[in-house]
Amino acid sequence: MKQFSNIGILTSGGDSPGMNAAIRAIVRTSIYHQIIPYGILRGYQGMIEGEIQELKTTSVSNIIQRGGTILKTARSKEFMTKDGMEKAYQQLMKNNIQALILIGGDGTFRGAVDFFSSYKIPAIGLPGTIDNDLFGTDFTIGFDTAVNTAVNAIDKIRDTAEAHDRLFLVEVMGRDAGYIALHSGIACGAEHIFIPEQKEKLNEILSSIQDDQRRKKMTSIIVVAEGDEFGGALELQKIIAKELPQLDTRVTILGHIQRGGSPSCNDRMLASRLGHAAVEALLAGRTQEMIGIVNGKIHYTPFTSCVKLHSPLPVDLLEMIHVLAK
Ligand code: F6P
Repeated sequence: MKQFSNIGILTSGGDSPGMNAAIRAIVRTSIYHQIIPYGILRGYQGMIEGEIQELKTTSVSNIIQRGGTILKTARSKEFMTKDGMEKAYQQLMKNNIQALILIGGDGTFRGAVDFFSSYKIPAIGLPGTIDNDLFGTDFTIGFDTAVNTAVNAIDKIRDTAEAHDRLFLVEVMGRDAGYIALHSGIACGAEHIFIPEQKEKLNEILSSIQDDQRRKKMTSIIVVAEGDEFGGALELQKIIAKELPQLDTRVTILGHIQRGGSPSCNDRMLASRLGHAAVEALLAGRTQEMIGIVNGKIHYTPFTSCVKLHSPLPVDLLEMIHVLAK
């Protein structure tokens, strides 16, 4: 078993609900093993600037239920340069940080791959992003909360859509991944779902909307992933308005409300489990791996694979959409 006296923790990229629960689990597991945990503020940027402070067990009291991240976060351009990485490394040495735990998404692990190819410090990553787009885990921390936020919002939109016989296009986040759109769309009974992973035959969708109208089904909810092939909900609305001008259409872009709020029970559980397992993994001598949960079990994936490979969307869900919407 390896021994460390100090470890550093950072959150990087877009925040996600459950990051605080993960920080709490890491801090308390470290202290349990007589390791002093240090919080690195504002992700890689804070590492460069030496914003590093000790975290006590009380520093993480009363945060398990809070969204955001007490360590703050940033997307650091400077860290992508050789000079930025060298400065960051020097700060770690100066503060005697002997191992790192990184919580973040795709960008965080891309940064990690570059950094650890030059600097050899033990490191474990936790998948923290609402997008659910990391290879090596069934779910990322924050996805469940974000998708539930989207579901609550879309349910409300359906009430008003129904009252006015309108077609609503609801745009959800996910960058270039369609998980939030797929899950929230299915859970809300959306008539159509547009995701980047699947090309849609727009003509077929337009004629299916017309069929619905003929059957006096006047309300439609279309969930659109922000990264879909048409460029998002506003662009799709333009196409639909041109082809079916008789329809009363509206667009709602859910935006950053999907990133905030109190984490769901699932996200708190996932974050607590992964945070605890990350410290244990470092002590067991593991390094440069992202820790996730696959089929209910802790799973390790090298940083290099979790950024290169993509988890395919479940084919059965993709097939189901069209059947259930009829
Ligand atoms: O990666 C999380 C995410 O919320 C994406 O879904 C979205 O595209 C992006 O971050 C938005 O980033 P920002 O908060 O920097 O605008």
